[in-house]
Amino acid sequence: MKNIVILISGRGSNMEAVVRALDAEGWPARIAAVISNKPEAKGLEFARARGIPTAVVANKEFATRAEFDAALQETIDRFDPDLVVLAGFMRILTAPFVEHYAGRMLNIHPSLLPLFPGLGTHQQALDAGEKEHGATVHFVTAELDHGPVVAQARVPVLPGDTEDSLSARVLVEEHKIYPYAVRLFVEDRLSIEHGEVRIRETRDGAPA
Ligand code: GAR
Repeated sequence: MKNIVILISGRGSNMEAVVRALDAEGWPARIAAVISNKPEAKGLEFARARGIPTAVVANKEFATRAEFDAALQETIDRFDPDLVVLAGFMRILTAPFVEHYAGRMLNIHPSLLPLFPGLGTHQQALDAGEKEHGATVHFVTAELDHGPVVAQARVPVLPGDTEDSLSARVLVEEHKIYPYAVRLFVEDRLSIEHGEVRIRETRDGAPA
């Protein structure tokens, strides 16, 4: 039984997708905690309502990134995580923190990485005239929005798209690929070899 700790900063819809999939599909895992850097994060309400332990480590209360990351790490580690899932966690993390969770921390980013790291990805895709956009699940490494890719989903960019319409189309796919990727991890079907992700498919070739 693997312990998953999920970090959020806001709405938490990806966290919700992971929690729902775990429950519906009976993964060999439990959500040990949902932790937010913002006390007002909407997603905390969902977690509390499901009886999932929650914690807040408010970055506002720390003078430096290093102090915040140290407090966050201490809180996460109280829950003995096998996997840390960044689900709309909008903080840049320090290298020692990332190193501590090397090979056991995943992130979802709303673009087809390596395209458009950072913020404002949907507008960036529109401004660049992309025909396709999407989302990426990747292992977290010290370089922001880099790291071995586990899964990507693509959506078309349609005429007349706005940031809102495009982000909504991408979000539907995020809610599929993040549970898929987390499930691969908890089923021990993910490995990193020479910096690349290897996925062990099930015997019938199905991804999950
Ligand atoms: C998601 O679109 C996620 O990909 C993005 O924030 C949103 C969070 O939504 N993450 C990032 O931009 C990380 N750099 P959610 O709180 O409803 O899951």
